[in-house]
Amino acid sequence: MSRIKVGIIGCGYWGPNLIRNFVEIPTSDVLAVADLREERLSHIKTCYPQVMVTEDYRDLFTLGLDAAVVATPPATHFSLARDCLRRGLHVLVEKPLTLNSRRAEELIELAEAQGLILMAGHTFEYNSAVRALKRIIDSGELGQIYYVDAVRVNLGLFQPDLNVLWDLAPHDISILLYILGHAPIAASAQGLACVFDGIHDIVYLNLVFPGDVLAHLHVSWLDPCKVRRITVVGSKKMVVYDDVEPLEKIKIYDKGVEAPPYTNTFGEFQCSYRYGDVVIPNIRFVEPLRLECQHFLECVANYTKPQSCGRVGLKVVKVLEMAERSLQNGGGQETIFFEDGYVHERVAA
Ligand SMILES: NC(=O)c1ccc[n+]([C@@H]2O[C@H](COP(=O)([O-])OP(=O)(O)OC[C@H]3O[C@@H](n4cnc5c(N)ncnc54)[C@H](O)[C@@H]3O)[C@@H](O)[C@H]2O)c1
Repeated sequence: MSRIKVGIIGCGYWGPNLIRNFVEIPTSDVLAVADLREERLSHIKTCYPQVMVTEDYRDLFTLGLDAAVVATPPATHFSLARDCLRRGLHVLVEKPLTLNSRRAEELIELAEAQGLILMAGHTFEYNSAVRALKRIIDSGELGQIYYVDAVRVNLGLFQPDLNVLWDLAPHDISILLYILGHAPIAASAQGLACVFDGIHDIVYLNLVFPGDVLAHLHVSWLDPCKVRRITVVGSKKMVVYDDVEPLEKIKIYDKGVEAPPYTNTFGEFQCSYRYGDVVIPNIRFVEPLRLECQHFLECVANYTKPQSCGRVGLKVVKVLEMAERSLQNGGGQETIFFEDGYVHERVAA
C-alpha cells in the first residue's frame, strides 16, 4: 500500500514532535511543513532536508497530499482545518479542536459531507497509563465511582492569547470523557488572572457527570511544582495516576471506608477503615503521540472513525465553552446538553 502523504502546518513548540513521529512512521511520508516563522522552517529543514518548507500553508495544496496536521495556535485551528477539508484533505487538528462549538460543528459537517477523516489531537487518550486507568474503571474493580480529582499545574508556559482553561484543561476533560465514557451534564468554574489582566492563569473547574459522579479539575500556570495527577475514588478501591512518575504511573489502593450500621449514640459511631495492598500494574509505555499519529494514519487508510473523532473534539470544546461562561459569570453552574444538534442552554446558578 502506498504511504500516506502528510503536510504539517505549524512547527513551533509542539509541531516538531508531530513531524518527528510522522517522519518515523513507515506508513506516512511527510512532504511539507508550513510555518509563518522562517527560523522555525530553517530548523526543520536542517533536521529533515527532504521535507519541503514554506511560509504559505496554501502551497501544501499543490502537492497531492492525502492529509494535513494543524499544530498552530488554537485561534487559527478553525480556518486552517476548514481550508484543508475544503481541499479534500483528511485532517488531524491539535487540541482544542476549535475555540467555539459552532465552528467545531461546522468542521464536522464539512468533513462528513466530503467523506473525510477529522480527528482531534487528544494525546492523552492514546497514553498507555490513561488506557490502563480506563480498563481498571471498566472492570468494576473500583466499585461505584464517587469522584475524580485532576491536577495539572506548573510554572508556565503562559500563552499570550488564551487562558489556562483552554490551554491545559482540554487534556483533563478529554481524559475524563474517555475514562468515564460520558460527557458531563454541568460545569462551574472559578479562577484568577494574576499576571496578565483578563487572562486566567488559575482555574478550578467542577464537572458533574451522569450518576452524580463529581470531577474537580485544577489547572494553573502559577504553581511552584509540576503536578500531573488524577485520582479516581470508588466505593471499593482508589487509583492514582501520576503522569510525572517515570515508571510507576498507576497505583491502585485497596483502601476504603464503610459506615457503621445506624446508631443512636456517638460512642457507637465507628467507621470501618480498610488499608489493603497497593498494586502497581506494569504498563508498557509507548510514546502517546506515536500511537495518536499511527491511529490517525490507520483511520485514513481504512476509512474508520478515530477514537478522538471530530464529535469527541466538539464535546471537549462544549465543556470548555460552558466552563468559560461560568468563569465569566462568577462561578454559577451551567448545564450542558449533548444531543443531536448539540443544543445547550444556561440555567440559573
Ligand atoms: N497534544 C499536546 O500534548 C499538545 C502540547 C502542546 C501544544 N499542543 C497544541 O499544539 C498547538 C501548537 O502549540 P505550540 O505550543 O506549538 O504553539 P507555538 O506558538 O509554539 O507554535 C505555533 C506555530 O504555528 C505557526 N503558525 C501560526 N499561524 C500559522 C499559519 N497561518 N500558517 C502556518 N503557521 C502558522 C506559528 O508561527 C508558530 O511557529 C496548539 O493547538 C496547542 O494547544 C498540544
